[in-house]
Amino acid sequence: MSINEYMSNKHRECDDVFSQAENFVAEDKWDEAHKHWQQFHGELEEHLTMEEAVLFPKFEQATGMTEGPTSVMRMEHAQMRALCDKLANAALAKNKEAYLGLSETLMILMQQHNMKEEQMLYPMTDRVLGDSGPVIQAMENHDS
Ligand SMILES: [Fe+2]
Repeated sequence: MSINEYMSNKHRECDDVFSQAENFVAEDKWDEAHKHWQQFHGELEEHLTMEEAVLFPKFEQATGMTEGPTSVMRMEHAQMRALCDKLANAALAKNKEAYLGLSETLMILMQQHNMKEEQMLYPMTDRVLGDSGPVIQAMENHDS
């Protein structure tokens, strides 16, 4: 499996749980909403951490590009985390309107971010790193 396939699958998994949480909020099912929100938040954080701790450094070492695409991705991760903090508060307060507004913003940001990774960064990473096996292994072994 390529890094692109492996990471794209992770994106799909996160997206699914994220939209489930959103649907439960829309239906005022807060117990289910909290459960899915927390699952999404945990999976997203793990995914971002795997990239920052394993994938991006390997890309940067292999290409010598530290101010390029990975620095943009790290900035976008910070934006996503800031939105997640606000979403967590909206979920705690059971504020449906605030949650759905923030959730829309995060969804658009994630779509654009994931597209850049899947169409540019991951394919580039597959090209420069060659064998994806050890990289995927290192990401799976990483404690986030
Ligand atoms: Fe990312």
